[in-house]
Amino acid sequence: QPACEYKPGLEGVPVAQSSISYVDGKEGILKYRGINIEELATKSTFLETAFLLIWGRLPSKQELDDFQEDINNHRRIKYHIRDMMKCFPESGHPMDALQTSAAALGLFYSRRALDKEEYIRDAVVRILAKIPTMVAAFSQMRRGNDSVKPNDDLNYSANFLYMLTEKEPEPLEARIFDVCLMLHAEHTMNASTFSAMVTASTLTDPYAVVASAVGTLAGPLHGGANEEVLTMLEEIGSIENVRPYIEDCIENKKKIMGFGHRVYKVKDPRARILQQLAERLFELTGHDEYYDIALEVERVVAEKLGHKGIYANVDFYSGLVYRKLGIKPDLFTPMFAISRVAGWLAHWREQLAVNRIFRPTQIYVGQKDGVYVPIEERS
Ligand code: CMC
Repeated sequence: QPACEYKPGLEGVPVAQSSISYVDGKEGILKYRGINIEELATKSTFLETAFLLIWGRLPSKQELDDFQEDINNHRRIKYHIRDMMKCFPESGHPMDALQTSAAALGLFYSRRALDKEEYIRDAVVRILAKIPTMVAAFSQMRRGNDSVKPNDDLNYSANFLYMLTEKEPEPLEARIFDVCLMLHAEHTMNASTFSAMVTASTLTDPYAVVASAVGTLAGPLHGGANEEVLTMLEEIGSIENVRPYIEDCIENKKKIMGFGHRVYKVKDPRARILQQLAERLFELTGHDEYYDIALEVERVVAEKLGHKGIYANVDFYSGLVYRKLGIKPDLFTPMFAISRVAGWLAHWREQLAVNRIFRPTQIYVGQKDGVYVPIEERS
């Protein structure tokens, strides 16, 4: 007999004890290692936050400098991997390209010295360094261009935008992108993190862990809602059309993209920060008419569905920000992966310390007395 009741989707079933992140869905609080996301978003950087998530403490100045320098030194990808990526179909989805390239890293780098902290650090550095390069490379290659080499004078986020768009971003654009990476870096237990942990629990290498998490994130029920928010705003098209559009969705039980969350029953704290970032970005790059539509959507949804605890989630404003930064909609989920890899690696490292292979059970509901019928006697 199973030890507990079957819960589809493991809803409400704890699968780990973790000290990496904490969410209070009623108060709208998200903390990484005990530090409020708002504080990190104003004071930290993505790489410092990744260090915090993975090693459980803020780095010293020297540790952070060394970490950043190591990552800068590992941003290039091998010719073999670039050659392999050139053979990918240009119509392929960037998430599939990323999953394949992430798995390919495992072919090139030493495997499974998982008990050694140097190995863990080396893998963390390589993965954080190379994932953005691979995303940007595929984005260039699918348009028939060569990949753009990392620019050693630019920091992590500025360099990524440079490799993607071939122009150096304004400091504010790079900073805003860096904050977006911080906001998406970790979010307690979720499908891709769980997938990473199941893969990690077999003690396979970290490249396989990341590749399986990327594959999980790629599905429309997980990453990808921000792309759909943009499509929705375009469909709405004008402020006057917001109310009838939302009323129609509610009447026909159609989900409004970028709203609602399994955990948050108030506005997602990440949406609040992203909205402020969007406003700062539009001051620099010019007004965005879709932002006015988005504000009206938020007003009408709060009026109609606020009583059910349905408010804007992290995906509602991120698409508007990414688009202004010159990022194509089918790259929004890879942006999520570039960032969330920090959380996956944190859970990988946390789990290695207490590892037990995931081997749940099932309730058999099939037949128990089947007979083998020879093929010529089957109807
Ligand atoms: N628009 C309209 N109604 C909604 C929405 C929405 N976006 N979200 C939930 N509801 C209603 C739903 O119709 C249901 O109503 P009723 O009880 O009358 O049948 C009730 O709220 C509960 O909804 P649910 O789908 O059972 O809630 P859930 O916790 O299973 O789903 C969710 C959470 C995020 C999948 C869902 O809110 C949704 O599909 N939102 C739109 C897609 C989206 O924005 N996804 C990004 C999630 S945030 C990223 C992340 O953290 O991974």
